[in-house]
Amino acid sequence: MRDTLIVGNWKMNQSLEEITSFFNTLKDNNFQSQAWIAPQALHISHCLKNKPSTMKIGAQNCAYENSGAFTGELSPMAIKELGAEFVIIGHSERRSIFKETDETLYKKTLIALENNLSVIFCVGETLEEREANKVEQVLASQLENGLRDIDNENIIIAYEPVWAIGTGVTASPEQAEKAHSFIRDFLANKTKLNASATKILYGGSVKPENVKELLACENIDGGLVGGASLKAESFSHLH
Ligand code: PGA
Repeated sequence: MRDTLIVGNWKMNQSLEEITSFFNTLKDNNFQSQAWIAPQALHISHCLKNKPSTMKIGAQNCAYENSGAFTGELSPMAIKELGAEFVIIGHSERRSIFKETDETLYKKTLIALENNLSVIFCVGETLEEREANKVEQVLASQLENGLRDIDNENIIIAYEPVWAIGTGVTASPEQAEKAHSFIRDFLANKTKLNASATKILYGGSVKPENVKELLACENIDGGLVGGASLKAESFSHLH
């Protein structure tokens, strides 16, 4: 029912030339699972022109308004107009480096959905929070504040423990499954989302060597992948 989805989060990486070669290498690839890519916003058009037809392209962030005096922001309406189909909201780098709050993320989620963009809503605890036994408390508060009364089938959750992002340290399948199953129960009991139909992706040092054991877990429906999604060969081996 929940088919597997692998999303490449390219962050602020890749050149136009690297992107062309990435898609040229992938051209004949028949993925077993859905494959989406979130390039930096300036590269969305180039990706749309070069991607395989089944692949979706999305943005890594969007503004909480469609237009107005917001110098430097990314309008969700313009993202949609360009042909992108989803947006990542609440990535831990947005939360920590750019100080995005739960309130801002809620507004961004609402307006992205209004524009018919799917939303990959990210949650995850820091190492200090895990060591203080606060994983469930943190996830509950991020989900509660970010999603509140939202009732929409275009939401995907990404569980990304902050200590596993870009560090090479992956959560064990047991640690990840425990968090994913907590998230699914929370969605069922505390939100209006259809918990059994909502995909929950795992992110944080996913690579070809560990993807299989993570995807084998009952509540892990795919991956949000940074480093290992940059090269075509490694991206294909995630499927
Ligand atoms: P990583 O990044 O795969 O390089 O750890 C994941 C992410 O930040 O989404």
